[in-house]
Amino acid sequence: MKKNAEKSSIPEHVAIIMDGNGRWAKERGLSRIKGHEEGAESVRVIVDACRKVGVKYLTLYAFSVENWVRPKAEIAGLMKLLDKFLTEREKDLHENDVRLRVSGRIEDLPLFVRRKLKKVMAATKDNRAGQLILALSYGGRTEIANAAKQIAKLAATGQLEPEKVDEATVAEHLYLPDVPDPDLMIRTSGEMRLSNFLLWQLSYAEFYISKKLWPDFREAEFLEAIEEYKGRRRRFGDIK
Ligand code: FPP
Repeated sequence: MKKNAEKSSIPEHVAIIMDGNGRWAKERGLSRIKGHEEGAESVRVIVDACRKVGVKYLTLYAFSVENWVRPKAEIAGLMKLLDKFLTEREKDLHENDVRLRVSGRIEDLPLFVRRKLKKVMAATKDNRAGQLILALSYGGRTEIANAAKQIAKLAATGQLEPEKVDEATVAEHLYLPDVPDPDLMIRTSGEMRLSNFLLWQLSYAEFYISKKLWPDFREAEFLEAIEEYKGRRRRFGDIK
């Protein structure tokens, strides 16, 4: 929904493409999984930083639909790391009133990860201070195609008039329709690509590209991104 031009304050929703774990490891002669491990530490730090500065929603691109082509050992390592992260952070998330959610094809994930995710999501479902959204087996085009399929089914069964399909109809059929669109999208490692991330939801987001590799992106770097965002004037198509 378009709003009038406004000077930005703290973003309500920050979405991050966590890029550069592999390069971070390579620079140090370490295995790629070591890079992901250090990346998981950045996740912990940034979740805390969001709480400190008052960012309510944090969406992290943790595993894309395209990532399934990576070597089996790397995928297995990432899944184990996710499981470990959830085990270690569950208590902390809960104590800080943060709700865990997943955006993506959760059904693609190995059973042990699915179980853990469902357990932590159920335990934190009534938490209200903030939301940590993990984009897992996520693809923006897959999400939009999935919404189109659901809308087509409603139309085919006479529950929705095709003429009435509008932007709101599409938005209502995305994975997490109640989550506001991100205000700020951060990508690390200097890459200037969207990589199929939140294609619909990022329409009006401010972009911030950090040269830092994700394992080196910590609280100071995050605060810098927030400061820059605060100085941006969001126009939403207006001329002001
Ligand atoms: C991109 O770096 C990163 C990923 C594909 C995975 C992100 C995963 C983590 C940060 C760790 C675990 C996540 C959680 C939520 C605990 P890359 O491997 O593409 O790096 P490169 O481009 O330098 O090779």
